[in-house]
Amino acid sequence: MKTKIQQLLEEVNSLKASTLEEAEALRIKYLSKKGEITNLFNDFRNVPNEEKREVGQLLNELKNNAQEKLNTLKEVLTASGKTEQKTDLTRTAEPLKLGTRHPLSLVKQEIADIFSRIGFTIAEGPEIENDWNVFGALNFPPEHPARDMQDTFFIEKNPDILLRTHTSSVQTHVMSSQKPPIRMIFPGRVYRNEAISYRAHCFFHQVEGLYIDKNVSFADLKQALLYFAKEMFGPDTKIRLRPSYFPFTEPSAEMDISCNLCGGEGCAFCKHTGWVEILGCGMVDPNVLDNCGIDSKFYSGYAFGMGVERITNLKYQVKDLRLFSENDVRFLEEFTNAF
Ligand code: DAH
Repeated sequence: MKTKIQQLLEEVNSLKASTLEEAEALRIKYLSKKGEITNLFNDFRNVPNEEKREVGQLLNELKNNAQEKLNTLKEVLTASGKTEQKTDLTRTAEPLKLGTRHPLSLVKQEIADIFSRIGFTIAEGPEIENDWNVFGALNFPPEHPARDMQDTFFIEKNPDILLRTHTSSVQTHVMSSQKPPIRMIFPGRVYRNEAISYRAHCFFHQVEGLYIDKNVSFADLKQALLYFAKEMFGPDTKIRLRPSYFPFTEPSAEMDISCNLCGGEGCAFCKHTGWVEILGCGMVDPNVLDNCGIDSKFYSGYAFGMGVERITNLKYQVKDLRLFSENDVRFLEEFTNAF
């Protein structure tokens, strides 16, 4: 009996199973009602009394070992079965969720591409500014309403520090630090103290353009803008320039393009005029050149400024400005294949 127990103990300790079914078959072989270990328990009554104590202990040890061994085998097999499922190499891969570029970035990039094709380079300036860069150098009279708290965000403790209200401020930086010829665009974010609604926001984006050289004329401005309009909105696009006023340009104009929705026929979008306004422009006022250290006796130039949201709305008919800053993925995903 003792040799039999010893032999089974060795057998049990080296048991192996590669499936749950195999493990169950082993349990039946050793521990079921007719199993080998159970049979030994049945034979226990034939063991002579003086050996009962020792043999009983050995039998219990054998049974516990067998149970423990089989439980461990089953646990290991169940766990590895689960991980096998997780790494099923034949499964089709989950599609990767790719981000999309923001519509304003797409349009800003397109504007930059168009102007870079006619020799413009790109620069950026700070969003936190002082009065001189945003207003003073650009010929704003001291009493100009833009300098009012109602339009501009000022830092309370120091009213000389403010958030720029237009990217024209980058003109000041560039002209004060570089010599003509200057042919550049300045994209960036601007801030105005406006109540937020579907058609106004306290921040938005602009692209400013500046060209300074000898003998720059209004005709050069018109050509550059016509080229831009056709590239951006299609070759049939027409432009018209209406006289306007800006402190930093003289003469100044606002530019309309033929409505790209109705082709100039007149629709609700263009308020039945066939035209929509897209930018302000003009010849850089000689005072501005002189304020920035460029001699207006030798140099002249043109400037223009446009709102990126406005151009984006024209291209994609976004009706509510707030959508641009809410980060609603459903809105952003509409532009996945925009370019
Ligand atoms: N800075 C103007 C604005 O924010 C836009 C503008 C108008 C820029 C005329 C210019 C310009 O450079 O010549 O409304």
